[in-house]
Amino acid sequence: MSKEKKPQSRVGDDLHVDLADHMTYGEYLHLKTLLAAHRPLTSSHDEHIFIVIHHVQELWLKLLDYEIALAIEGIRTDELRPALKALARVGRVQEQLVSAWDVLSTLTPADYLSFRDALAKSSGFQSFQYRKVEFLLGAKDAKMLLPHRHDPEIHRELEAALRAPSIYDEVLRLVARRGFAVPAEALDRDFTEPHQFDPRIRDIWLSIYRDSHRYFDLYELAEKLVDVEDRFQQWRFRHMKTVERIIGFKRGTGGSTGVGFLKSALDRYFFPELWQVRTEL
Ligand code: HEM
Repeated sequence: MSKEKKPQSRVGDDLHVDLADHMTYGEYLHLKTLLAAHRPLTSSHDEHIFIVIHHVQELWLKLLDYEIALAIEGIRTDELRPALKALARVGRVQEQLVSAWDVLSTLTPADYLSFRDALAKSSGFQSFQYRKVEFLLGAKDAKMLLPHRHDPEIHRELEAALRAPSIYDEVLRLVARRGFAVPAEALDRDFTEPHQFDPRIRDIWLSIYRDSHRYFDLYELAEKLVDVEDRFQQWRFRHMKTVERIIGFKRGTGGSTGVGFLKSALDRYFFPELWQVRTEL
């Protein structure tokens, strides 16, 4: 009879196990608080994935907010290296956000209906972090503040982002500082409105793209912005298609037409000249 060897414990003398007077992993991360936010309203098993996927996406949105703010600051102060680094991180986070839809697409229409009524009027449309990220990227719309009127703290934060120059406004200021004739009305404008396509700005990008070796940092920055917008649209598309497979063409809990409303966002551009320049090259 072969003698089975009992596996030794992996906990040796050097591992910290006496933690009564020390900060632990859970304390540093406030894990009890974080996990206590998981509070299903029904007994439906499928409400768990719905809550987790929203929490996960909100956490990534928080990081996007920090990283895009850092990129904006770098561009504003002519520190392009940290700005490009932050935008590279933004891209990786966006990949996580896009692939999160694969997990949620295991939710069938019947699964969703098992808890949908408990959601009442709540909807991702009211995600203030998502709206802030959209504002940072330039999708300005004062009406998007309306669902937040009842919460002064969030309203203030969103209003500040609405009134501040977006990342593209700062990029255009940078391009002007580099000696390009950016039209004055694109630089000094009402930042609560989205940037409007201007063929003169497209032509500036055309010069930069045609002589990319000479203006490499601006060219690289422009391509990073295109990456960010591309992935943002992928997120919107995957959200719209996941919603279609779960609720079809029913109205949303937020009160919109549902899929039709989500589709309309796919026609909008953050950086219109950077997309137009491709046709002209
Ligand atoms: C079963 C899953 C989901 C369904 C059926 C759904 C449905 C919808 C619908 C119909 C809208 C339009 C507004 C409305 O009338 O409610 C919407 C908006 C939105 N949802 Fe979802 N959603 C789901 C999951 C998610 C998740 C996981 C997130 C992640 C945070 C999310 C974030 C958003 C955001 C940010 C908007 C606003 C989009 C915009 O303004 O363009 N949704 N959702």
